[in-house]
Amino acid sequence: MKRIDTYPARPFVKWVGGKTQLLDDIKKTLPHDLSQCDGVTYVEPFIGGGAVLFWILQEYPNITKAIINDVNAELICTYRVIKSDVENLIIELNRLQAEYLPLDEVARKEYYLSQRTRFNDEENSDVETAALFIFLNRTCFNGLYRVNSKGKFNVPHGRYANPKICDEETLRADSAVLQRVEILCGDFAQTGKYAGNNVLYYFDPPYRPLTETSAFTSYSKDGFDDAEQKRLRDFCDRIAKKHSFFVASNSDPQNVNNDDDFFDHLYKMFSIKRVFASRMINSKGNGRGAISEIMISNIANAY
Ligand SMILES: C[S@@+](CC[C@H](N)C(=O)[O-])C[C@H]1O[C@@H](n2cnc3c(N)ncnc32)[C@H](O)[C@@H]1O
Repeated sequence: MKRIDTYPARPFVKWVGGKTQLLDDIKKTLPHDLSQCDGVTYVEPFIGGGAVLFWILQEYPNITKAIINDVNAELICTYRVIKSDVENLIIELNRLQAEYLPLDEVARKEYYLSQRTRFNDEENSDVETAALFIFLNRTCFNGLYRVNSKGKFNVPHGRYANPKICDEETLRADSAVLQRVEILCGDFAQTGKYAGNNVLYYFDPPYRPLTETSAFTSYSKDGFDDAEQKRLRDFCDRIAKKHSFFVASNSDPQNVNNDDDFFDHLYKMFSIKRVFASRMINSKGNGRGAISEIMISNIANAY
């Protein structure tokens, strides 16, 4: 008899600000009766690595529909390929893995740079773009995604002894979960049309930098400054008035300046809670350890 192994769906890339460590806190913030509600729609306008999406869709089977969005076109292309063409993606990733892993350090770096050029400068099919996106994420320095002023991915090669470039089980599990997900690419505001009863939004926008140097806002060539944070607050206001629930997380500026009440002021009409998380991705290696994050919501039972 053949055993059927089941693998959990989880992020297929490392992503700055990944929320795996905050899932317990996010769960406590959600409506306590969420699992009893029929036909819930989940919307995640800043999807990134999708840690919350993959967790929530497995935890709550009553979420029958989900909408995800991100401004990063290559990331969204990868989600779409995983949803609709995962077997061809696996073939392409296995090919890249088989070419890369046997090389020595110098040759691996050269191979990485040639694939980075291919990703940036050549016409690739969607499957090739998705495979290159995952390959570069698994082999680049710290799993960062950073582009230069021309929008070209420019992260240097990383040093991992045996990186798992093709994680077939995770990709297939993710593909199964993504069958109930509509995938959009663009500004978060385009998800406003889904607001209404029985709709839950989770926002994880680019962090407001904690220090001048930890400027991890460059996920794409468009920055996310304080004016953007205010635009997001106005958006939360609008979807809350249409009876949607929302949870939003961000870095707590009070980690570095006790008097910085930017978010407390911005979201004063909603609930704000501080929780502790460890920041794992930091290009300078400092800034790790437990620091507080803020969780904002309009959910009455939150605390
Ligand atoms: C903090 S990350 C999300 C992390 C994610 N929750 C996770 O668990 O990995 C923020 C995301 O917002 C995206 N982004 C930045 N500006 C945006 C905008 N105006 N509209 C939509 N997405 C945006 C970035 O490309 C990035 O993927």
